[in-house]
Parts: sequence; C-alpha cells; structure tokens
Amino acid sequence: MNIKLTSNSSKNNKINADITVSFLTKDKLKDHKQKKLLDLAGFNAEQDSTCFLHEKEILVCGVDSLSNDDIRSSTSIAIKALKSSNYSCAGFNVDEENIQAIIEGIVLGGYEFNKYKSEPKKYTLKNIYLACKDVKKLQSAFEEAIIIADATSFTRDIVNTIPEDLNPPTFAELAKDLAKENDLKCEILGEDKLKKQKMEAMLAVGRASRHDSKLIHLTYKPKKKAKKVVTLVGKGLTYDSGGLSLKPSTSMVTMKMDKAGACAVLGMIKAASELKLDIEVHAFIGAVENMIGGDAYKPDDVLKTRNGKTVEVRNTDAEGRLVLCDVLDYAQDKVQADYLFDFATLTGACMVALGQYTTGIMGHSNSLKHNFFEAANNSGELVGSLPFNKHLKKLLKSEIADISNVGSKPYGGAITAGLYLDNFIKDENKDKWLHFDIAGSAYTEAPWDCNVYGGTGAGVRLVSSFLKSIK
Ligand code: BES
Ligand code: ZN
Ligand code: ZN
Repeated sequence: MNIKLTSNSSKNNKINADITVSFLTKDKLKDHKQKKLLDLAGFNAEQDSTCFLHEKEILVCGVDSLSNDDIRSSTSIAIKALKSSNYSCAGFNVDEENIQAIIEGIVLGGYEFNKYKSEPKKYTLKNIYLACKDVKKLQSAFEEAIIIADATSFTRDIVNTIPEDLNPPTFAELAKDLAKENDLKCEILGEDKLKKQKMEAMLAVGRASRHDSKLIHLTYKPKKKAKKVVTLVGKGLTYDSGGLSLKPSTSMVTMKMDKAGACAVLGMIKAASELKLDIEVHAFIGAVENMIGGDAYKPDDVLKTRNGKTVEVRNTDAEGRLVLCDVLDYAQDKVQADYLFDFATLTGACMVALGQYTTGIMGHSNSLKHNFFEAANNSGELVGSLPFNKHLKKLLKSEIADISNVGSKPYGGAITAGLYLDNFIKDENKDKWLHFDIAGSAYTEAPWDCNVYGGTGAGVRLVSSFLKSIK
C-alpha cells in the first residue's frame, strides 16, 4: 500500500481518489448533507462505526470527538473497511493536527502479519492519498510519522516471529542486518564473552536452552555533535517457559512475546537513525531463552551478578530481571548516558495494576516521568506511574544472599520487580533511569486503538516522541 501526501487546494477539498474518508461526530451528523441516507443506513456516528455511501464516493466514520485518539482509532476501523472493499484508491483530508494520528491508523491499524500464512490475502486497495492545503508545510510531519509507524511495524514483525525462527543467535543476526542497513555500530557478545564479563545471572537463565545467549549492543551516532546520549536496554526472552518454575500451559502460550522489550529497543534505534536525530542512542539487548532441562538453573540457586551482588533464585519464572540486572550493569559501564531506559515484559502484576493497555513507568525522577506523560499524550501510547516505596523494597530481602529475585508477598509485584532492578542502577544514574513494564501493552489478542492481534510495538512511538522532544 502506497501512502502519498497530495494537495487538495485546486479541487475545493475534493480528493482525486475513488473514495474519500470523512470523520463525523454526533453533533455534526444532525446537519450533514447526507443525513437522510445515513439515517436509512442506521448510522449514528458512534465512535468506530462506519458507513459507505458508495454513490457519493464517501466512507463516513463516526468519532466521539476530533481528538487524535479518536481519529487514530477511527482511521484503523476505516482502513480495515477499505481493505475489504474493492476500491483501489482512498483519500483522507489531513492537517497539521491530525496527520500523525491518521498515518498511525492507516499503517498500524492496517498492519498484518502474514509470514506463516501459505496464502496471504490479496487486496484491491493500492493507494492512499493524504490531501492537504500545503504539502510543503506538512512534508516533514508526514515523513516523520511514516518512519515512526514503520519502525513500530518492524518491532511488531519481530515480536510476532515464532521462537523457532527468532532465538538468541538469529536475533543477533537480525540486529546485524539492521545495523548494516541503518549504518549503526553493532557488537555481539556470545557466551564466552559473557563469562568473561561475569554475567552469571544472565547466563544461568539461558543455560538449559539449546541456543547460546547473546548480548547485543547497537550504537547510532548522529553526524552532528549529539545533544544527549540515551541508553536503551531491552529484555529479549525469545521464549519464557518459566524454567523449572514452569508456567501453566495456558500462560505459556504467547510467551514468544517476552522479547518485546528488545524488539521495541530495536525499533526505537531504527526510528532515531532514520529521523536523523541529533541524539546518540545505544541499544543493549539481553537475548536469552528460558527453558527446562538437566542443566536448568533452579529455585534455591544463588547467582553472582556482574556487579557482585548475590541473588537467591526463588522462582525461575522471574528470569527477566536476572537478565536485565547484568545487562543494565554492563550498559552503565560501557556508556556514560544522560538517560537510561529499560523496556521489559516483566510482570503479570503490571497488568493487574494498570490494565493490559498501559505501560507501567517506574523510577526515582518525577520530572523524567512527567516528560514521559507528555510523550505518551503526543504519541498515543498509554503510560501510568507505579510508585516505589521503602516498605516494598524490604520484600526482596533474602536470608542467604544479598537479595531474592522475587518479593516475599504476593502484592505490588510490578514495583518489587522495578525495585529489584534499582539495586543495579549506580548512584550517579538513579535520576537518569526509568523502567518501563510493557507486559500488558506489548501484545494483544484482541484489537484496540490502532493495535491488531499480536505485537503492538509498545514503546516505539512513546520513545520516538520523547527523543524528538529533547532540546
Ligand atoms: N514474562 C513474564 C511476565 C509476563 C506475564 C509478561 C504475562 C507478559 C504476560 C515474566 O518473566 C514472569 O513470568 N513474571 C512472573 C514473576 C513472578 C514469578 C514473580 C509473573 O509475572 O508471574
Ligand atoms: Zn518468566
Ligand atoms: Zn519473562
């Protein structure tokens, strides 16, 4: 599907397409030119409802308001309706305000993952025209929105790829390919190097897998002097069976998505490099598979992490934090960054706390969190803050090691996981760090907003918006 920015000035807002999409609120429905026809069709401008008026060459889409959230969601419905029609060219009227939301609706709402379909569906719809008054003025907003939406689709593709195809070694190859295409530096640490780095926690998680664990480090350096340096760390569990604390079979399904943090971090650095931002970006990924076997790590093990702290393993399904603590420590030694963000499908508890649509944000800096509330508003992603406190911190105490890998009480699990990671953040980086729990937001089994079944690409639009806002 081609998306083109065109001008509508010459033809009095009429777009040279087979059909034009128009958004309609209940208020505006009352005095709509085609009110009679729309009434006959039973259309009442309900959000996410659509009505084709074929003779008039319009597709009318109901919206609660003209806010970007409502437009994005409605565009996602419209694009699905258009794909199942036989039109080959559709048009949208866009302006500075809504162009990003409409592009997200088209690209992300119309996203499909067909890698494993023997016969992908064929569509008549080939061209989408985004018509505006002043093409020159909107050109850069158009290009930016396309880059970010495409990076989100890229992340979704990797998340959706099955663990047989996407395992730590193939993940490293994929990172190398991205590095080649986008002119990034790429360094891969295999198990020998991880041993030299004393990353015993990360290595323990991957020990029962037939795939070697990999630490991936990608770097984007801008041509101009960088305004800031940003380190991104991603949890890359290419499969999480739970290990010996084995997941029940129904919870194991979808655990190919436990690499979504790593996939998001790849999408973010891809977007940053294609947007040519004046920010130096480092992406660190811990790619590991959590399996069972005679050499699996076990509950009761005590592991020595890279920073020297010892961890009592009480649950092998709390593996993400064991990988992240070593990668975070390594990343802080490697790069003196202005910001340090980690992304992880870390806890089911985050979904209990915030619901499955919202990313949980944890950290010490309220002002940095505030920046991300703003980035969320501008990007259409949902975030919620989960507060640390010293009482929850005590739940990580261990009788035989420095800390335990799980909290001793069943409450506040997303926060105790965040507090576990906090143990591995150096004092000088405390206010530079935020932890993003995307356990709920990274994957969906039912469509919502511009998300369709599977990986959502959570984090990519959010961080792209934050990076763009850096002064
Ligand atoms: N990958 C899971 C978290 C998860 C659960 C992500 C559901 C997406 C959907 C993580 O490794 C895990 O299993 N966490 C445990 C922690 C517990 C053992 C303390 C959990 O959430 O149950
Ligand atoms: Zn787990
Ligand atoms: Zn996991």
